Amino acid sequence: MKATAKAHTNIALIKYWGKRDESLILPMNNSLSLTLDGFYTTTTVEFRDNLKADQFYLNDKPITGPEYTRVTKFMDLIRGYAEKPSIYAVIQSINHVPTAAGFASSASGFAALAAAATRALEMDLSNQALSRITRQGSGSACRSILGGFVEWEQGEKEDGSDSYAVQVAPPDHWDIRVAAVVLSSKMKKVSSRKGMKRTVETSPFYSSWVDSIPHDLKQIKEAIHVRDFETVGRIAEANCLRMHATTLGANPPFTYWHDTTMAVMQTVKDMRDKGIPAYFTIDAGPNVKVIYLPENEAEVEKTLRTIPGVTDVRLSRSGQGVTYL
Ligand code: DP6
Repeated sequence: MKATAKAHTNIALIKYWGKRDESLILPMNNSLSLTLDGFYTTTTVEFRDNLKADQFYLNDKPITGPEYTRVTKFMDLIRGYAEKPSIYAVIQSINHVPTAAGFASSASGFAALAAAATRALEMDLSNQALSRITRQGSGSACRSILGGFVEWEQGEKEDGSDSYAVQVAPPDHWDIRVAAVVLSSKMKKVSSRKGMKRTVETSPFYSSWVDSIPHDLKQIKEAIHVRDFETVGRIAEANCLRMHATTLGANPPFTYWHDTTMAVMQTVKDMRDKGIPAYFTIDAGPNVKVIYLPENEAEVEKTLRTIPGVTDVRLSRSGQGVTYL
C-alpha cells in the first residue's frame, strides 16, 4: 500500500481570504489561481501494518510538533473516508518550493499528500473528490489538484460537498509566466490562517472585499478565455491590493508588506510606464510575484534583480495538476 504523487504550488490571482467554516475549511469567497510548474512537492505514502502512528519526514528530516500534528490529523481524515481508522503510514515529502521565495509549501504539500495517501489506500477518486479532501488540509491546496487556471468554488452547503476546485483553462491555453521575487529581510509573520481569521472577525473593510469578488471573477475569467493579459493583470493586482487593505482595518491592524515589498510594487508600475506589461500580486507575506508574458522575460527578470533588497528572482510557467510517479 504505497504511492507517490507530485503536486505544484499555485498563485492566486483572485485571493481566498476568510473562512465561513474553520473546521471544514469553507471559504467566504471563490478564488482563482494559476498552478506553477517551477515549485512542487513530491510525497510518498506507505501504509504498514506494524505501525502505531504515522511517521513524517520532510526533506529526509523526521518532523515532530505542530507540523507533524497537522499532517497526522489530515491523515486521520483520509483514514476516516477510507474506513480504515487504524492503519498508519510512513510519509516522505520532498519540497521543491524555496520557502524563502514566499511560497507557502502547504498548497503543494497537502495536494501531494492527499493524492499519495488516497492512492495508496486504493480510493478511486475524481479530481473533484480529491480536491474536496485536500481543501480540508489547507484551503489553497485544493486548487493545486488541477493544472493551469483553476477556480475554487466556495459552495453553499454546510457539509462542504459543493466546495472544490474546477479547471478554468489548461496549462497549454496560455503561456503566462510568474517571477517570484525573493527579499532579503525577514519579518515576524502572521500566518495566513491567523491573518484571515482576524480580518474576518474585526475588519470593517471585510464585507466590501467579499462583495467585490463576483465582478472580479467574471471579468478575469472572460479575460483568461480571450488571453487579454492587461485585463488579467489589472484585475489580479487590484484584487491583491484590496485583500491587503482588509488587514489594515483589522484589530489589531497588520500588514504583510515590507519596504522592499513596496519597492518591487513601484518597480512593476514603472515597467508598465515604459511599456512592459507586468503586474504584481502578494500573498500572506512580504514577497512579491510578478506576472508577465514570455517576450518580456529577460527585461522583467533583469529589472527585478536590480532592486535593492531583492536577493533572487525565480521564474515559473503554468504547471500541471497532480501526477502520480
Ligand atoms: C493569501 O490556504 O494557506 O495565499 O486554508 O488556513 O490553510 P488555510 O489558508 P491558506 O491561505 C492562503 C491565502 C492566500 C490567498 C490564496 O492563496 O488564495
